[in-house]
Amino acid sequence: MLKKIYHRVWDWVDDRTGLPKMIGKTARHLVPPDAKWWYVFGSATLCALMIQVITGVALAFSYIPSASEAYSTLHFISDQAPFGHFLRGLHYYGASAMVLMVGLHMAQVFLAGSYKFPRELNWATGVLLLGFTLVMGFTGQLLRGDQNAVWTVVVAAEQAGRTPFIGQWLAHFILGGDTVGGATFTRFFAIHVFIMPGFIFAFVGLHLWLVLRHGISEPPKAGKPVDPKTYGAEYKELIEKKGKPFWPDSAWRDVVFCVVMIVVIAALALFSGAPQLGKPPDPSITTASPRPDWYLMWYFAVLALMPHGTEQYFLVFGPLIVGIILIALPFVFNRGERSPWRRPWAIAVVLMTVVMIATLWVAGVKSPWSPNFNAPPLSASVVGATNGPVFLGAQLFHDKGCLNCHLIADDGGRRGPDLTAVADRLSKNQMVLKIANGGVNMPAYAANLTPAEMDALVAFLQTRKSKSP
Ligand code: HEC
Repeated sequence: MLKKIYHRVWDWVDDRTGLPKMIGKTARHLVPPDAKWWYVFGSATLCALMIQVITGVALAFSYIPSASEAYSTLHFISDQAPFGHFLRGLHYYGASAMVLMVGLHMAQVFLAGSYKFPRELNWATGVLLLGFTLVMGFTGQLLRGDQNAVWTVVVAAEQAGRTPFIGQWLAHFILGGDTVGGATFTRFFAIHVFIMPGFIFAFVGLHLWLVLRHGISEPPKAGKPVDPKTYGAEYKELIEKKGKPFWPDSAWRDVVFCVVMIVVIAALALFSGAPQLGKPPDPSITTASPRPDWYLMWYFAVLALMPHGTEQYFLVFGPLIVGIILIALPFVFNRGERSPWRRPWAIAVVLMTVVMIATLWVAGVKSPWSPNFNAPPLSASVVGATNGPVFLGAQLFHDKGCLNCHLIADDGGRRGPDLTAVADRLSKNQMVLKIANGGVNMPAYAANLTPAEMDALVAFLQTRKSKSP
């Protein structure tokens, strides 16, 4: 009885819309028989995108995109809203997963030469999707609205502002004005939730359409080069003779991989959580050069390590040139061998890219040029006092941001000198002078500290001596 109703409803919907049959046909389209685990990264990217859409919409329910409220609404989401902390974690690790999967998908397609004839446009739309994904990462970071996020944007805008010709206009466009303010948040919010998702949906649609149109590339065989004259016919023959329906013969791997990915993301979100919100943005820290999330960190390292005066060209033209090279790739090399074993340079390019990004990333993490906004307060055993001026000084050392730039017993940042044993080399007066007047890359604190606070800070620093005199 139920079955009969089900079939009647199904037939009715199919008759009126034509969708069920079309979806069924698409799901069962034939794919090469030996398309195995290497082929899961594309669908995994799509799966990560779904997570982002769902968690992103959920976050948007409580988030207010304004300079004054972004930070406090996110605190509300993290600390009070039910599952809010978990939700932020999902969105954060989902973003990381998406960037990672895009990278793996791209490396796999590149190594297997799948971008060659007739799939040039599959690759080109993929490159655009990579760009959109990174823009999402960058704009999402500002929406976090803490000190680190705001300064990342300020630095990016400052850099962009020095680009020849279009700099002024670009900086103004990024910030929605001359400084970070309400307009910046609304603008980044609009880019993050309307413009980029719009582009992403459109191009994912086009990308998938192209995948269906040309079929999934067969695994490459050494000694079997792509010849545009014969490839189409050969592929058709292979698929008609040996092809397997995508659903369920091949799709189960995508499902398994996607489920594993979701479990890992959920576990990370639950046990590790999204990055702690930093302090609220503090305009008194004028010399900060903060660090972005890991997937953009290496790029900031490039900017920081470039010879002075060249980085303003690189900020805009670097990605532009890389993008043009990537998009041009399949049009220039659209035939010939696909097997990576016959294209050693392809393996070399991927290895070099991985090594380069990894090295720059490590440089970015250590980044002596950048304050560490996440330095936790000093532990009681390091401070060595639980009340009195020394204790107060240690607190101020954290709260006034000194710890962001200075190391004490390996906790803190590396922009300024290590102060673990500063009392060995500086007298009380020398310390007061330095703190009040600042120095190269150190802000002057004279106006930001009461005399009592200054005394406490110095009392604390005077206890910083090397252990074995
Ligand atoms: C934006 C990063 C930054 C912040 C924030 C910062 N410093 Fe510094 N600090 C530096 C740098 C860089 C130097 C070395 C440059 C110089 O001496 O001119 C320095 C030098 C010092 C020195 C001298 C160290 C020596 O060995 O000569 C002391 C003491 C010091 N800072 C204390 C503080 C205290 C206390 C605070 C917080 C109230 C603070 N700093 C905040 C970056 C920072």
